Amino acid sequence: MPDRPHPSVFDLTPLNPAFNDDPHALLDQLRRECPVHRDETAGTFVLTRYADVRGVLSESSMWRHPSRAEPAAMIQRRLVGEKIEGLQVPEDEAGASILFLDDPDHARIREPLAKALYKRVAKCRPLVTKVVTGKLDALEGRAEFDAMNDFALQVPIDAIARILGVDEHRLMEFRSWSEGAILSLNPFRTPEQTAALVAAINALSAYFRELMTARRRTPRDDLVSDMVQLQAEGAPLGDGEISNNLQGLLIGGNLTTTDLIGNAIWLLLTHPDQLTRLKAEPALINSAVEEVLRYESPVDVTSRIAPRDTEVGGCPVKQAQSLFMSLRGANRDPDTFPDPHRFDIARKDAPHVAFGGGTHLCIGSPLARLEAQVALPLFFARFPSLRLADPEARPRWRNLPFFRGLKELPVAV
Ligand code: HEM
Repeated sequence: MPDRPHPSVFDLTPLNPAFNDDPHALLDQLRRECPVHRDETAGTFVLTRYADVRGVLSESSMWRHPSRAEPAAMIQRRLVGEKIEGLQVPEDEAGASILFLDDPDHARIREPLAKALYKRVAKCRPLVTKVVTGKLDALEGRAEFDAMNDFALQVPIDAIARILGVDEHRLMEFRSWSEGAILSLNPFRTPEQTAALVAAINALSAYFRELMTARRRTPRDDLVSDMVQLQAEGAPLGDGEISNNLQGLLIGGNLTTTDLIGNAIWLLLTHPDQLTRLKAEPALINSAVEEVLRYESPVDVTSRIAPRDTEVGGCPVKQAQSLFMSLRGANRDPDTFPDPHRFDIARKDAPHVAFGGGTHLCIGSPLARLEAQVALPLFFARFPSLRLADPEARPRWRNLPFFRGLKELPVAV
């Protein structure tokens, strides 16, 4: 038996400076000593072994809706219990997000949304290239810049705005609402941040209804038009469900894809042999992006709820108990990934779980991959001698629970 207690879910967030500094010291310890760990303080199991995480994700009968979790599952219960003052979104939007729905509603909404989104993403490489090139042009002539705020943060919002069909003259407003809406991911918001969040969500909700009405009248070549068109053709979708889930694409995709691009730039600058190899063999870009997703996953965890008494990794789990899956921990499991703490852009057969899996597999994964695959080669081609502005400085990771990305990434041209 180990002589120290196992870390709780709270210790496994960047609010714990040791985890923020090196998450894998704690995750490796937990995987070695107790891969299916019952954390009584948070009322959940924490899984760190790849086989267990993959097994639970693949099981489509697992529940997702937080209200189905036992009362002890405090993090899940808080998601449904939290009432935010001042929100003025129409009633039919509440609780409609596929992120937390179970079947049949999950499949009913996700299927038409995925169909429309994947069709758009399949043809949006030129659009993403244009967005990236515009951001790089704006950096021309700078001797130093912040690769996070001046580049990685800028690409995903503009890409999704254009896919959705946000009007050109509303782009500035839309960007600021998007940044406000991302605060919904921060459970430790200040009152000022909550006010900014409320204002952003109210504005977004009103704007999406406006867009839906406009596109019903005059369809355009965009995702809002696709969704109202599918609804008109008989897809069983309410207006609130369309609006909520289009906003979900925005909120789910911005910070995560920003962090994928930012983590990739940082990893390549701190592993110059890998950057040199990527430049010499551009065809490695897809496996390089997969390795960044595995090695420095933007999202820490996802969760499920046991739909019946069952067993996970040999441990009994009761109906309604919560299962937190450490995607970060699973992605560095030595039983699945040889030499897991080595960053290797040519790694083969590395089926990471950075996008979760099963029926809830990230719906935005094709778009996130495309953005990174387009952005990184163009970025490094534009700044061939790029280096960290201060090579000795320690990376400054954000301390938003369950996400991993840099606060800033100062670079010199
Ligand atoms: C690198 C970028 C991204 C990462 C690492 C990421 C990660 C994840 C993860 C871990 C989940 C939970 C999956 C599960 O529980 O099995 C998820 C779900 C989701 N993501 Fe992403 N995501 C990214 C980009 C995006 C983008 C670009 C969008 C939108 C365009 C998006 C929209 C969503 C939505 C709507 C869900 C809920 C899907 C469902 O429950 O059916 N994500 N994502």
